[in-house]
Amino acid sequence: MKLVKLGGSVITFKGERKRFRSKITEDLAGELAPFKEELCVVHGGGSYGHPLAHRYELHRGLHRQEQLAGFAEVHRSMRELNGRVLRALHSHMIPAVSIPPAPLVSMEGGEVVSFTGGPFQRYLDAGLVPVTFGDVVLDSLRGSAVLSGDDLMLLLARVLKPVTTIFVADVDGVKGPDGTLLPVVSSTLSEVPLLEDEMDVTGGLRRKLSLMFQMAKEGFRCLIISGLARGRLRGALEGRDVPCTEVRWA
Ligand code: IPE
Repeated sequence: MKLVKLGGSVITFKGERKRFRSKITEDLAGELAPFKEELCVVHGGGSYGHPLAHRYELHRGLHRQEQLAGFAEVHRSMRELNGRVLRALHSHMIPAVSIPPAPLVSMEGGEVVSFTGGPFQRYLDAGLVPVTFGDVVLDSLRGSAVLSGDDLMLLLARVLKPVTTIFVADVDGVKGPDGTLLPVVSSTLSEVPLLEDEMDVTGGLRRKLSLMFQMAKEGFRCLIISGLARGRLRGALEGRDVPCTEVRWA
């Protein structure tokens, strides 16, 4: 089976407030469609998630009464984005069904301590395509935490044992110091120049890559590809050689 994350930077305009990239997402749905028999989709938050979660400081925990309204608002915003993603998938006849992650995940101090993955397998067994997303969740130490789509990729890979995991981004992959695309990055993170986004409430590129290294370490083939270049997602799903970065454990 294939496990694909549609990054928030691809399905939304990240610098703007809640703007969905409908054309790009529909094109990506078209590329996913041939694989709908064995597919699970995760998506990120982009401009529907990060700026709001950052404003209410939900990644730092629940300390003030007004954060409760913020928690609810971020969740509603993520549901709204999820609805749009589902519609794009349905427009290509993909039987996509939403499984919100919050009730299935327990977090403690910002780390996931348990995950119930059974429902995803049951939906897959029934021929459906489960779709989940990064969201605000309860944290037993801090009150709240932000669970990223990348965290979900690792958790789901362990349960679903995909042949390939693909992270669809708004860049071709990871670039080296001279700006050229690195076909492979291995776990010596310091060599990779990382641009950090201060609005990112889920640890930015550094955490994203360390989750991918963990996935590679556990034996999952892990690719980063551009969702803005037509045909790349489909090519990667077909196992063809497309411009991308493979994340390897070394
Ligand atoms: C973020 O999920 C979810 C929220 C901010 C609520 P991700 O961290 O996976 O989102 P992207 O892909 O980086 O936008």
